[in-house]
Amino acid sequence: MSLNRLKKQAAWAALDYIYPGTIVGVGTGTTIFYFIEALSTIKNLISGAVSSSHASTILLKKQGIEVFNLKYFSSITIYVDSADEINHRMEMIKGGGAALTREKIIATMAKKFLCIIDKSKIVNVLGRFPLPIEIIPIALTYILKEMIKIGGQPKHRKNVITDNGNIIIDVYNLNIEDPLSMEQKINALPGVVTVGLFASRTADIILIGKENGIETINNHSKNI
Ligand code: A5P
Repeated sequence: MSLNRLKKQAAWAALDYIYPGTIVGVGTGTTIFYFIEALSTIKNLISGAVSSSHASTILLKKQGIEVFNLKYFSSITIYVDSADEINHRMEMIKGGGAALTREKIIATMAKKFLCIIDKSKIVNVLGRFPLPIEIIPIALTYILKEMIKIGGQPKHRKNVITDNGNIIIDVYNLNIEDPLSMEQKINALPGVVTVGLFASRTADIILIGKENGIETINNHSKNI
């Protein structure tokens, strides 16, 4: 079965977690594209959505789902998003779609983070996927140097400006044994807006699309 079919399967399974009257936090990416399609089938039951990117906002509106401005909320019932990598402790790398900052804001505000993935996203150690970092443009050379110091090979993601007007660095060849301390260390560098490590805010539930159906992991049983 193709990975797209597995993404779609996980995305549709997420509907079981959306209750009537909810304002749904919506992530960004190809898996979320399927989730927005699925969500449109229950659009009359939900109250609307808050979105993690302009791209998802456009898709949501196209499906007739009302999108609220996040700035009016201090918490959200549920956030549904995917990940670029996820480990056995539900720590993630995110930001392949450059929406990591808004994703981290909504994920942190959310009472529940439902992560929907195809089986290829599961890893033992994070870092095979290059780690995205959103930075203030003038910090580019400084942050590149700092990332070499921690053992990575950073590259400026060309021709990408984030929804917040910043740029993205992707750090290759990291072996992230301690995601929480690396998240804290990189976030503390001046010029860094957000690092795409989600270790202080992990997922609560993971739905994994597999050939034989959906595997569900929640934070009481983390054996992926
Ligand atoms: C977007 O910035 C990312 O965090 C996505 O959640 C992640 O890249 C997964 O994307 P796909 O669903 O396209 O694999």
